[in-house]
Amino acid sequence: IAFIGEGKDLQKLSENFGFSPSAVTQLQQEFFMPGMIDTHIHASQYSYAGTALDMPLLQWLNMYTFPVESRFQDVEFAKKVYTQVVKRTLRNGTTTACYFATIHTDASLLLGQIADFGQRALVGKVCMDRNDAVKCYRETSEESQEETYQYPLVKPVVTPRFAPSCTEALLAKLGEIAKNNKLHIQSHISENLEEVELVKELFPNSESYTDIYHKCNILTDKTIMAHGCHLSDEELVLFRKTGAALAHCPNSNILCSGVLNVRNVLNHKVKLGLGTDMAGGYSPSILDAMRRSLDSSKVLTIQDPEHKTLSFEEVFRLATLGGLSLDERTGNFKVGKDFDALRVNVAAPGGPIILLEKFLNLDDRNIVEVFVAGKKV
Ligand code: GUN
Ligand code: FE
Repeated sequence: IAFIGEGKDLQKLSENFGFSPSAVTQLQQEFFMPGMIDTHIHASQYSYAGTALDMPLLQWLNMYTFPVESRFQDVEFAKKVYTQVVKRTLRNGTTTACYFATIHTDASLLLGQIADFGQRALVGKVCMDRNDAVKCYRETSEESQEETYQYPLVKPVVTPRFAPSCTEALLAKLGEIAKNNKLHIQSHISENLEEVELVKELFPNSESYTDIYHKCNILTDKTIMAHGCHLSDEELVLFRKTGAALAHCPNSNILCSGVLNVRNVLNHKVKLGLGTDMAGGYSPSILDAMRRSLDSSKVLTIQDPEHKTLSFEEVFRLATLGGLSLDERTGNFKVGKDFDALRVNVAAPGGPIILLEKFLNLDDRNIVEVFVAGKKV
């Protein structure tokens, strides 16, 4: 983005920046908005998105997720699924995606390559050295550490799956790798009550779920943790102190995990973005995540009239600037940033705020064009 100015300045701008006013596209009714940022999505779960929604988290992982993810050893299968995911999410207006892949290095590198075609992406090879339910879908601690070093593509993100599938030794090692290489980190935290109980059993010496990650240097200002529905206020304070962010994934949460009190998270000044968490959430669209955020917030207000419901403007901010910690070049329109943008046409009259509200509540087919780093994709 070279400059931002009023249309009436066009003549002056064209002189200063050396372009012909005839090359200018003037939008009628349409508008540009910053591209949306999905701060938590499992690229490897796309093949069963929209199905397998009948079980709580831990059973769901064993029954559906691990068997499907173990298929990504087959690079051809991975290529097919990952190509679909990148195309689909771009079409839905996701210009930046923070992906979980699987434990397979080759397929994870492939996802990086495929995304590099036109999407800003962080790709995480999943690390897990503990999985008693599906034994063929895990690695040794050594494999997990060594393979995490090998990332030439897009932006790598260190990805311990979640505390129950990692030993403390692995978590500590991954914390060290992230620190030494200045890498982002992503994982899950406090999504579901059964999971929180399991974590207490597996890590009896830790004060809280957050404490486990904190002790292993997993919480940094480059960390994004999905969910956090059941975090205590003390844990939120630790997030604030370390600069770690949360990814709010309402579609996934509303199934049976919990309802994140976004207002409380914002009051604690914890960084917060939106995630689809596909396929735990059945939709790959961040527009859906925005609407679900509003719905969840209204449910909280129904339960407690004192609760201050989120506005669509706040949710719009979460879906764009909320992902800023993933990549500072994106999130809004400012001189010097990359032009990650959607051209939107809701085919209706009205001022910008009305058009935006309509777009958020209607349909991603109103996205006419998608740009990433100035390139139409
Ligand atoms: N916790 C650990 N792994 C997963 C996953 O794949 N999806 C969700 N929603 N939660 C998880
Ligand atoms: Fe997830």
